[in-house]
Amino acid sequence: MILEKASYGACELKTALITGITGQDGSYLAEFLLHKGYTVHGIIRRASTFNTARIDHILVDPHTEGTRLFLHYGDLSDSEQLSNIIYNVRPEEVYHLGAQSHVRVSFDIPEYTGSIAGLATTRILEMLRRSEKKIRFYQASSSEMFGNSPPPQNERTPFQPRSPYACAKAYSFWMTANYREGYGIYAVNGILFNHESPRRGEIFVTRKITRALTNILGGKQKVLYLGNLDARRDWGFAVEYVEAMWKMLQLDRAEDFVIGTGEQHSVKEFLDLAFAYAGLNYREYVKIDPRYYRPTEADSLVADTTKAEDKLDWNPRIKFEELVKIMVDAEMRDGGLSPPGEGDKLLASKFPVRWWNSD
Ligand code: NAP
Ligand code: GDD
Repeated sequence: MILEKASYGACELKTALITGITGQDGSYLAEFLLHKGYTVHGIIRRASTFNTARIDHILVDPHTEGTRLFLHYGDLSDSEQLSNIIYNVRPEEVYHLGAQSHVRVSFDIPEYTGSIAGLATTRILEMLRRSEKKIRFYQASSSEMFGNSPPPQNERTPFQPRSPYACAKAYSFWMTANYREGYGIYAVNGILFNHESPRRGEIFVTRKITRALTNILGGKQKVLYLGNLDARRDWGFAVEYVEAMWKMLQLDRAEDFVIGTGEQHSVKEFLDLAFAYAGLNYREYVKIDPRYYRPTEADSLVADTTKAEDKLDWNPRIKFEELVKIMVDAEMRDGGLSPPGEGDKLLASKFPVRWWNSD
C-alpha cells in the first residue's frame, strides 16, 4: 500500500531507518512514518520462514514507482552490515527498536541478549559517530530497567535492573546518553512502559491471555498456564507509543522521556477483565506453572509521565480497561468469533484518523 501525497501532512519529507521493523512497534512505526510522508528503510533478519507478517500489508514491490518502504537484510550482531546499511541509506533518523525483547527468555540466553539488546546499540552509535551526516537516534529503552526501584518511576528514578534483558537495556541507555554528551549526537532514550496491541508477540502475557481466551471460547484449549499473577505493570496501547518515539526526535534538544499511562494493574486484573468481557470466569481455566516464574522479577512498575505531557504534549487516549477490550475484540475476530465490540467502538471514537491498518 502506498499512501497518496495528499496524506503526507505538514511534515517535511525525511528518510528513516528502523531496526526491528518486523516487530510490534517497528510495524506500527513504519506505518506512522509512511503516513507522515517519510521514506522508510527497515532491517530484517534472514529466516527460513517468513517473518514479515506484521508489515505484509505495507510492503510493495520495490520496482513500483513511488515506493517508500524498503527492506534490507541484516542482523544486530553484524557491525559490518549495519554500517553498510546506514552508509547507503543515509537516513535523517534511526529508530533502534530491534532486540531480543523477552524478559523471561533473557534468563535462558543472557549472553545473546547482552549482545543484541546491549552491544548492538554501541555498534550503531559508533556508525553515527563516524558519519559526516547528522543522524538523529532513538533508543528503545525500557521500564524494565527500573526493576526494584519503588513506583512511580520517572526520568530521575535510579535503575535497579532485575533481568539480563534489563541489564542489557541499561547498558544501551547509558551508551546513548554518553554518545549524546560526548559527541554531540542527537540521541534519545524513550523509556517506555509495557505497551500492547493485537500485534503483540504471542508469548507476552497480555497476548497469551487474549489468545487463550479465544481458543477456550472456540473449544480449542482447556487450560491456560501462567506464572506470576501478582506482578503489576503499566500497560498502554502500542499505537500511541510509536507516536511518542517520533515526537522525541523532533525536539530542538535531545532528552530522555518516560512514556506510560500512569495506571498500574496486576496480571490477575488483566485476566479477570479479559475473561469477564468475554463472559467467562478466568479462575475456571487458569493454572500456575512455575516454569513461567522468573528468577528475579520487576514487581511493580508505573510511569510518572509529567515530563512527556509537558514537553512532548503526549497523553495516552487508551488506558487499561480500553486496551483489554481492544485486544479481546481483535483476537476474537481473528479467531473467527464475533467479539462484544466495545473495543472496536472505542477505536473508532478515539482515533478519527486511523493511520494504521486494523488488525
Ligand atoms: P518485538 O515485537 O519483540 O520486536 C523485536 C524486533 O527485533 C523484531 O523485528 C525482531 O525480528 C528484531 N530482532 C530481534 N533480534 C534481532 C537480531 N539479532 N537482528 C536483527 N533484528 C532482530 O519487540 P517490540 O515489542 O516491538 O519492542 C520494540 C523495542 O522496544 C524492543 O527493543 C523492546 O525491547 C523495546 N521495548 C518494548 C516494550 C514493549 O512493551 N513492547 C517496552 C519497552 C521497550 P524478528 O521479527 O525477525 O524476530
Ligand atoms: N510472558 C509471560 N508469560 N509473562 C507472565 C506469565 C506468562 O505465562 N505469567 C505471568 N507473567 C508476568 C511476568 O512475570 C511479568 O511480571 C508480567 O506478566 C509481564 O510479562 P511480559 O508480558 O512478558 O512483559 P515484561 O513486563 O516482562 O516485558 C515487556 O515489557 C517491558 C517493559 O517494561 C517486554 O515487552 C519488554 O521488552 C519491555 O521492555
